[in-house]
Amino acid sequence: MDTLTELGATPLSPALGAEVTGIDLRHGMSGETAAQILELWRRYLVLVFRDQDLSTEGQRRFASNFGTLRERQRGGTKFAKSKYALWEGDPNIRDDPNLLLVSNVTVDGKPIGSLAEGDMWFHIDSGYAERPYKYTILHAIKLPSEGGNTLFANMYRAYEALPRDLRDRLKGRKALHIHEYKRREKVNLGEDFSNSPHAFHPVFTTHPETGRKSLFVDRLMTARLEGFAPEESAALLDQLFDHAERPENIYAHVWRYGDVVMWDNRCVTHGRTNFPKDQERILRRCTIEGEPPFE
Ligand SMILES: [Fe+2]
Repeated sequence: MDTLTELGATPLSPALGAEVTGIDLRHGMSGETAAQILELWRRYLVLVFRDQDLSTEGQRRFASNFGTLRERQRGGTKFAKSKYALWEGDPNIRDDPNLLLVSNVTVDGKPIGSLAEGDMWFHIDSGYAERPYKYTILHAIKLPSEGGNTLFANMYRAYEALPRDLRDRLKGRKALHIHEYKRREKVNLGEDFSNSPHAFHPVFTTHPETGRKSLFVDRLMTARLEGFAPEESAALLDQLFDHAERPENIYAHVWRYGDVVMWDNRCVTHGRTNFPKDQERILRRCTIEGEPPFE
């Protein structure tokens, strides 16, 4: 069990994020320690633990301290197990429905994971679902020599800094989120999206634990604002995305081998910078079940 006395936390940017020290995540932890981590999580939104060495089982055990692990799925269909049986570097993942690899690596021409290569626009993990994930927890296993950084935006701050008139106009409104499995391309509303996972959520949401309000839209998957003409909706959304992604609202995480990085999807959006195509990047991911967002 955990022999921890005190966790340290060093802020990583003025916007959000903290590096947490004083803990080896391989060991089980007391309820008290888990509560301390949760408290830091609510304060800093993104937590970084350096130099960790979590097995598949270790990551699952650590994540379980914060809720029910979500099963990986795609459009309602579970990923084929065979997809995860390809990579010998992490053989235990093949039978574990709660973990997936975020990776561009292929074996015999087949991807070992999801979300592949290149940069990726800001998004909420599973914002297109009725119950978006509460938390995402990533562990760095293999990294490119440069790039592939994860950018985090503080959506509390984005909400709080919104011009008053915009806040008044969007109060009580909902937005449509659609998942089309793209990484840097707007959702095409001209196409039939009924088979793509989608959901309506309030534009402004209240965090159920902190009571703080967030802006809950993202550039990748938020397609339309309910109750506005198409052009007006598109212009307003662009304004919201640009506002949320302003540099003063961002923490850019430069990954190191062994990092465990976890964030709260209810108040944070994230994106990814480009990295060399010919270099391998592997992150092991698990997510925690969430609740329907409310305003
Ligand atoms: Fe993501």
